Amino acid sequence: MFPATVYSDRRKKLRAQLSGGLILFLGNQEVPFNYPANTYSFRQDSNFSYFFGLDHPDLAGIIDLDEGKDIIFGNDVDIDDIIWMGVQPTIKSQAANAGVEETAPLNGLSELIKKAHSFGRKIHYVPPYRGESIIWLSDLLGIHHLELKANASEPLIKAIINLRMKKDPIEVAEIEKMVDVAWQMHTTGMKMAKPGVVEREIAGTLEGIALSQCGPVSFPVILSINGQTLHNHYHGNTLVEGRMLVMDAGCENELHYSSDITRTVPVGGKFNVRQKGIYDVVLNANLSAIAAVKPGVPFKEIHMLAATEIAKGLINLGIMKGNPEEAALKGAHSLFFPHGLGHPLGLDVHDLEGLGENYIGYDEEVQRSKEFGLAFLRFGRKLQEGFVMTIEPGIYFIPELIDIWKFENKLAEFINYDVVESYKDFGGIRIEDDVLVTSDGCRVLGKPIPKTVAEIEKVMLAM
Ligand code: GLY
Ligand code: MN
Repeated sequence: MFPATVYSDRRKKLRAQLSGGLILFLGNQEVPFNYPANTYSFRQDSNFSYFFGLDHPDLAGIIDLDEGKDIIFGNDVDIDDIIWMGVQPTIKSQAANAGVEETAPLNGLSELIKKAHSFGRKIHYVPPYRGESIIWLSDLLGIHHLELKANASEPLIKAIINLRMKKDPIEVAEIEKMVDVAWQMHTTGMKMAKPGVVEREIAGTLEGIALSQCGPVSFPVILSINGQTLHNHYHGNTLVEGRMLVMDAGCENELHYSSDITRTVPVGGKFNVRQKGIYDVVLNANLSAIAAVKPGVPFKEIHMLAATEIAKGLINLGIMKGNPEEAALKGAHSLFFPHGLGHPLGLDVHDLEGLGENYIGYDEEVQRSKEFGLAFLRFGRKLQEGFVMTIEPGIYFIPELIDIWKFENKLAEFINYDVVESYKDFGGIRIEDDVLVTSDGCRVLGKPIPKTVAEIEKVMLAM
């Protein structure tokens, strides 16, 4: 945990943004895997973590906006628990670590809520996302589970976004440590990417590095020679020469700050001409986007810059045609780059996404597009100093999508469909870095992970 003052300061800043009532944060509970006593690894809720830092199940936190006090609800372990789990810190001592003086047993929470209701006090909460929390919250508040999301507190959501989006140096340091572990994961994966190796051998090794260095992976490892499927979690293919291996993997630490890095490498370590051609287009889009990151620039604009660079590169390769700016404006690039340029990163890999993507990524000034491709951009609004974002352009040849567009002759003025046909067996390439928005630009976080063709070949072909 950070020092207790970090958590009390965060709660103080939150309080300052809301006018009255109670804020209720439910911590996460254990979730059964295949029977009640066999649970998934425990993962605390990120908002609870941010404001209270405690990493045990079955806790709840109350911030009383009117009385200016905070309470942690939880039960001390009994002897049966101690036999199975060992001695655990008391709720009182846990709360003290978070700078909270008052504690109460868990069953006191419903009493407090009932009392607050009887006085007509507002209870602010964020939309729950786990079945267990949905049931708990629904029981506590007497709100039907299907109505919980609609009744979540908009002022609370907005206040949390204001705080969590801007990372303090101590948070950036934690994220950066996780990018450094990702360096080890990715360089190891590069060295292992030889013909005959099965994807799961590499995926398992990457996950093992995460577990041995810090916490678990920050999301299930995406690793495939079929990188044209954006989030491919199937790891049963055997690597063959001629395919590119997409590795999208990061990890999180005890405090839950995470990294999210993608590298794509040629199986066997040597790019062929076709692979190098497409790779350099994606790399140029990645580098151009990073160079454009600075406070005040709408992320949607940087996404469009990357899209234009991709169109330009694909025109040079004869895959697209026409004017690149016009092609990108009309959305022709999205046949090959159908997702957004990136997303915020922090305590969640898609940071704060549980609060609602449009709350985080869009505002009155920048609205979400409804167009294919651009609609998947999770974040479009202006960047601010302290934001941590991923920059992850890609080019994918998705045979099923190509067939649909070709059948419709869609945007044929910008696409050489005959040439595209010859790339249907290519797969995909994505290159992702994590960047901190600084006062006048950005800084790519962590130890540089091989990224150019020469750097990747050097690592992969080293004896
Ligand atoms: N790394 C997975 C994602 O950004 O969606
Ligand atoms: Mn990502």
